[in-house]
Amino acid sequence: MEHRCALITGATYGIGKAFAEALPVTTGLVLTGRTEAKLAALRESLAHDGRQIEIVLADLATEAGRDRVIAAAEAAEIDLLINNAGLGRFGAVVDNPLAAEREMTEVNVVAPVVLTRALLPGMASRADVSGRRAGIIVVSSVAAFQPLPFFATYAATKAFDLLFAEALAGELAEAPIDVLALCPGATRTEFFRRAGLSDGIFPHIMDPEIVARRGLDALGRRTIEISDPIRRAMLAPALTFRAVKRVAIRLVMKRVRDRS
Ligand SMILES: NC(=O)c1ccc[n+]([C@@H]2O[C@H](COP(=O)([O-])OP(=O)(O)OC[C@H]3O[C@@H](n4cnc5c(N)ncnc54)[C@H](OP(=O)(O)O)[C@@H]3O)[C@@H](O)[C@H]2O)c1
Repeated sequence: MEHRCALITGATYGIGKAFAEALPVTTGLVLTGRTEAKLAALRESLAHDGRQIEIVLADLATEAGRDRVIAAAEAAEIDLLINNAGLGRFGAVVDNPLAAEREMTEVNVVAPVVLTRALLPGMASRADVSGRRAGIIVVSSVAAFQPLPFFATYAATKAFDLLFAEALAGELAEAPIDVLALCPGATRTEFFRRAGLSDGIFPHIMDPEIVARRGLDALGRRTIEISDPIRRAMLAPALTFRAVKRVAIRLVMKRVRDRS
């Protein structure tokens, strides 16, 4: 499926950059992050005759940064929102600096909710008018499926992302908007170094290009995509049960909504 214009948060490195590189040249881009040189180089490498590529420098941990991204995405009339930016901080909650715990929550939780809420009405009305489906990808993690001591806040933020995307998919089931929770396993990016961990501890690590590709392929086909085939096989029974539960809960909640 081709989209007209995509907003990708956290496009400077890793999975976000891979998303930008994987989208077809016919899709315009709004790329955000805090590292200007990286975004400018990416824009140059992806430039194509007439292609609209905008970069927005913004700290998503701040309201001002989020507002700037929303304004640029609205102006570009995006029809694909990729909530990808995120960070982790390894260590016990009591030992981690409060500012780091707060930043994780702002970027991993508040930003996807605020961006989605602000951009959804425009995306929905443009999809209705044009007859083209829009899409929302929320990058969660396999860390979302269980509590992770010493990575507690990170795993909890990713569990939030997963539940948010699944519920949003239920709310938009009859709208021309596809919603996907993308749950990568360990992926070779800047993430672990920034989180204070070595990615050498993982026996199996994926390339961000494959993770992004799988996410784009899954959009409109599934609600949850587990990128890592080993984790996917391990989680398969739980995912089947979860899908059944999702359908049943949606019917109940829809009835509650209709009666309220
Ligand atoms: N790598 C993994 O193993 C893995 C596994 C599961 C899920 N994930 C998820 O995948 C997503 C992408 O992570 P990645 O692995 O590609 O990590 P990464 O290489 O560290 O990239 C993270 C991106 O998020 C941006 N970002 C971080 N803090 C930000 C802030 N305060 N404001 C704005 N942008 C910010 C960074 O841009 P700037 O620094 O330029 O701002 C960067 O572009 C995250 O949501 C992560 O939780 C990663």
